[in-house]
Amino acid sequence: MNRISRLKKTVTSMCGIFAYVGTRNGIRLALDCLKKMEYRGYDSAGLAYIADGNLITHKAVGKLRNLEKMIDDQTAQCVIAHTRWATHGKVTTENAHPILDATQSVAVIHNGVIENFQQLRHELEREGITFRTETDTEVIANLIAILYKGDLLQAVQEMVPLIKGAWAIAVIHKNHPDECIVAKNSSPLVIGIGVGETFAASEPNALIHHTREVIYLSEGELARIKANSVELFDEARLPITKQTEQLKHSAEEMSKGDFAHYTLKEIYDQPQAVRNAMLSRFFEDYGTVAMDEISISAAALLAVKRVVIVACGTSLHAGLVAGYMLEEIARIPTSVEISSEFRYRNPIVEDGTLVLAISQSGETADTLAAVRELKAKGATIIAICNVQGSTLTRDADSTLFLRAGTEVGVCSTKAFTSQLTVLTLFTIMMARLRHMSKAEGQEFLSALKEIPEQIQQVLAIAPHIEKLADKYASANDFYFIGRRYMYPTCLEGALKLKEIAYINACGYAAGEMKHGPIALLNEKCPTFALCADTLTYDKVVSNVMESKARHSPVICLTFAGDTRLTKIADDIIEIPMTRDELAPITAAVACQLFAYYCAKKRGADIDQPRNLAKSVTVE
Ligand code: F6R
Repeated sequence: MNRISRLKKTVTSMCGIFAYVGTRNGIRLALDCLKKMEYRGYDSAGLAYIADGNLITHKAVGKLRNLEKMIDDQTAQCVIAHTRWATHGKVTTENAHPILDATQSVAVIHNGVIENFQQLRHELEREGITFRTETDTEVIANLIAILYKGDLLQAVQEMVPLIKGAWAIAVIHKNHPDECIVAKNSSPLVIGIGVGETFAASEPNALIHHTREVIYLSEGELARIKANSVELFDEARLPITKQTEQLKHSAEEMSKGDFAHYTLKEIYDQPQAVRNAMLSRFFEDYGTVAMDEISISAAALLAVKRVVIVACGTSLHAGLVAGYMLEEIARIPTSVEISSEFRYRNPIVEDGTLVLAISQSGETADTLAAVRELKAKGATIIAICNVQGSTLTRDADSTLFLRAGTEVGVCSTKAFTSQLTVLTLFTIMMARLRHMSKAEGQEFLSALKEIPEQIQQVLAIAPHIEKLADKYASANDFYFIGRRYMYPTCLEGALKLKEIAYINACGYAAGEMKHGPIALLNEKCPTFALCADTLTYDKVVSNVMESKARHSPVICLTFAGDTRLTKIADDIIEIPMTRDELAPITAAVACQLFAYYCAKKRGADIDQPRNLAKSVTVE
């Protein structure tokens, strides 16, 4: 079983995992805690427990509510439960977790990827094991069952070296009704300690209503959890002790209030979220920024010669805006890297390299891997993150929290504008440490202070944006174009339209259109031109004319009072006048509303778009 090969194709899940051993009804607790992690994956859900010496499973394809419907008055004191996001393999009841071994003795839930599962599966099949699912997890269940000689802990410990990849697992066995074994490698796992009960979950937020005392497992660590005990072991199977930590953040009520969707609520949360991101972080009198959370001396920050930003998706778009700002305003050479590409390079890290790792969740596998590589090469890491206790915040040297509150909608909205706010403050701080004068700092900060009110003004034109969405929602293709600060913004606008409205939207640097994509423009392919960048305004207007000449209907987003575009554009969205560096914040809000209303018009599942998950814990 120990021949390991790296296989390209994986059948895997991203998922939220939960385990409970105690005296309360673990099934109800499992459903409650899974609800808090449902955004990690919602293809299917399931749970398993032991009753009269047998493993009982309930599994349902689709949302968690389908699983809830299957649960009646069943009770159990030792339960594992799972919400799944599949990358390969069909979304079926069989493939939903928990996954059992061939003898129905072992049940496993799993978050991650077993890279060598195909080889292991072939070997197990040669030994006569019949597989019932397409999952990689089934090899774990069968390996444990084969290795089991009466001690579940030992069987899991012997199984671990055989699997390769990133994973967190929870395992129960029908002969051990009062214990659960949990283990992790790269995927997140936290143990919660209650009074006479013990939990495990993919994220602390899922547990915060039940306990605040937690232990974070590190790579390769394993635990046997029972109602009244937690035994910890390191990779070498030696017993270890770890300090418990207290969850400090408050238990947030995750409610969408009167809003139709979490996504809409979170779009409307943005004035407050941006205020929170600024709170006590700047001093207008001195035109400067103080970020006490950064445990790096001013001298070391002054010595920074280069910034490397790593991020994915929406966070990457925030990073791209920051890239422009840090070079232009703070005059620090900055490269902005897609984490999934960067992790496979052999980066050159010179003295004075500072890394900004941007991740809403703090669990994005590619960003974590990029950070680990950069750390190994000696770089200092500042995380920009929304989730306390997440893996990134524990790996980084310092963390700047967004304070945006939980983002439940899978599509990132308030995290993006909060990231931009924090990145702007960071830029001003770095610039003030260098050449920026007090007066320049004050001017920048007073413009930033206006932003929450300016977001409110954009929210006030939601009815106008909804009308435009009604007009354009039937388009199957869209181009978002912009230059300079509006370039990353148009990438973000297009991403929103893709992920929640399922419209094939492409964000493009406006100047690049003529190098190819313009061939695709016609009367059925609208252009969304982001013109709110004063330095490149004239150039973008020329690009708008080029789109019009190809019969592409054009929506122009521009600063209020711009009369030039009214004669050219088919439709206009106005945002309040601000500095170019800050316009991405308000422009993004308009793009979010446009995507939201297009998605609504098209009847899409806005909060949980198909095929997506909130926390991308596999690569
Ligand atoms: C898009 C979106 C994703 C995330 C990306 C990175 O709306 O939410 O593109 O931005 O998966 O996630 P984090 O920021 O958690 O690293």
